[in-house]
Amino acid sequence: MIMQQKNNISVFDTPVELTVAAAALIVTLAQEAIKARGRFVISLSGGNTPKQLYQLLSRPPFSKQMDWEKTFVFWGDERYVPPADEQNNAHMARVALLDHVPIPPENIYPIPVEPEPAAAARAYEDTIRSFFRTASPVFDLMLLGIGENAHTASLFPHTQVLAEREHLVKEVYIEELQMFRITMTVSLINCAHTILFLVTGKAKAEALKKILTAPFQPNIYPAQLIKAEQGRLYWYVDSDAAALL
Ligand code: 6PG
Repeated sequence: MIMQQKNNISVFDTPVELTVAAAALIVTLAQEAIKARGRFVISLSGGNTPKQLYQLLSRPPFSKQMDWEKTFVFWGDERYVPPADEQNNAHMARVALLDHVPIPPENIYPIPVEPEPAAAARAYEDTIRSFFRTASPVFDLMLLGIGENAHTASLFPHTQVLAEREHLVKEVYIEELQMFRITMTVSLINCAHTILFLVTGKAKAEALKKILTAPFQPNIYPAQLIKAEQGRLYWYVDSDAAALL
């Protein structure tokens, strides 16, 4: 049950209710996109939060409501680890969803994790540009999460990539994680038709409050950079994550 809906923020009692609502929204957006443009192009987020959502989408009723032939899957960011690594976002989505639905393999565009980070980022940008055949690719749906440090995708605090406006995809070295990430940039994310943040758990309450209510300080709270410049932005949060709002 939605506890409250203010502006574009929907607060759900539990993560399960949030996940069901998110799956229903995705099916609706997919049907609208396919009706309007003949295809549904989604960028998936990584980490743990969306896992339950992907599992829900992988089985009836939701899996039967999706036209997988006309669904195309990209990722908003990737950890620079081998494709079969448990940390790899594409691996998680394949295990939770993509290996269980009749989506053509050629419709799935994982972020490359070779030969080295900068080349992988350039390759993914080329893939996106040639897929959309336009200078400003518009994803139908951009799924995002936030970290406890208010990052989103792999747009981490105090990183150069926050200011990147020319490239659509960039490599970034995350000191605190001692790892490279490949991430879509703000320019690309903000072009999406619909942006959906999924946030659950007490651990995210402080970050969510800062992102939504603190003065604009994107270097500290990178998720504040995300705006639906030509579409809609929704926050689906559970009551634990919304506890400080
Ligand atoms: C990633 C994600 C990242 C994620 C947040 C939240 O690669 O980790 O894309 O932006 O959405 O870190 O992660 P959790 O859902 O695991 O808390």
